[in-house]
Amino acid sequence: MVSFDTTSQHLHPDRNIALELVRATEAAAIRAYPWIGRGDKLGADGAAVDAMRAFLGTVNFDGVVVIGEGEKDAAPMLFNGERVGNGRGPACDIAVDPIDGTSLTAAGRQNAISVIAVSDRGTMLDASSVFYMDKLVAGPEGIGVLDIRKPIGENLRALAAAKGKDVGELRVAVLDRPRHEQLIAEIREAGAGTRLMLDGDVAGGINAARYESRIDLCVGIGGSPEGITTACALKALGGFMQGRLAPKDDAERSRAEAAGLDCDAVLELDDMVRSDNTFFVATGVTDGGLVDGVKRKGPIIRTESIVLRGTSGTVRRISADHLAEKWLDERDL
Ligand code: FBP
Repeated sequence: MVSFDTTSQHLHPDRNIALELVRATEAAAIRAYPWIGRGDKLGADGAAVDAMRAFLGTVNFDGVVVIGEGEKDAAPMLFNGERVGNGRGPACDIAVDPIDGTSLTAAGRQNAISVIAVSDRGTMLDASSVFYMDKLVAGPEGIGVLDIRKPIGENLRALAAAKGKDVGELRVAVLDRPRHEQLIAEIREAGAGTRLMLDGDVAGGINAARYESRIDLCVGIGGSPEGITTACALKALGGFMQGRLAPKDDAERSRAEAAGLDCDAVLELDDMVRSDNTFFVATGVTDGGLVDGVKRKGPIIRTESIVLRGTSGTVRRISADHLAEKWLDERDL
């Protein structure tokens, strides 16, 4: 008699909510498209937020925004704590970033994406009281090898050995910020090359963990909401990630402590998202290393998205053609 492994993915298919959520990131990217290069980041973000929220309302789930556009009074929509979805279906935490790279979009630069991450209700760390997080992200080779407490040179040598490469072959993504001057110098002193990012360290982190990417490591201080969002994607990619909250001053540290956060603790992937049942979806706004940006081809608007699912580890790329006349305002057609 043939016996089946009943834990196998193909015998227990279940719903991939990200395949529905991708419509919301597509919508955000398409509505942001006319704002690319217009110098108005609030306008671009507003268009993306409106579109994403409208599409989230159609999805069968009961979502609570854990990582959103900010506090309720400052953010009219997709604020932290807002309920999204149609209220039916699984209870989830959701992180939304209608545009990661609003300045990139406004300037017409590369690497802006629209992002949603989801996990089971109550499993996503609410790190909103601390703006910044120090992050170290790599592919599976980094597991048991990298440690955010160690000097970057030591980590680079360990990662190179684990990947069977010379340190000189490693490419390290870092946000191009004055706060990273010393870090960048140390990466280069160790012999590795930097790939400086103007913005957008969610894409940077995912690129560091993707097996076919030319980026080996993403390191440095970026937004803590972006850190938690990246962690949801890393669950699917099976990669390595550690973080440590980086409060700007004593007041922020006190707020974090009041919220029950330990700013000295090293956050492992499971501390950032306490579930493997995660979903992540990103659609390109402008062209980038992760996904292509929105393209207009006559009557068609083309989007490219990446859809990841934690429990199966599946990575999908979705290319979609949308009718411009159904999406763009008269003046943008
Ligand atoms: P926004 O698009 O929300 O402005 O975020 C862009 C971003 O570059 C993030 O990817 C990154 O985590 C964060 O800003 C870094 O913050 P800062 O620009 O203050 O260094």
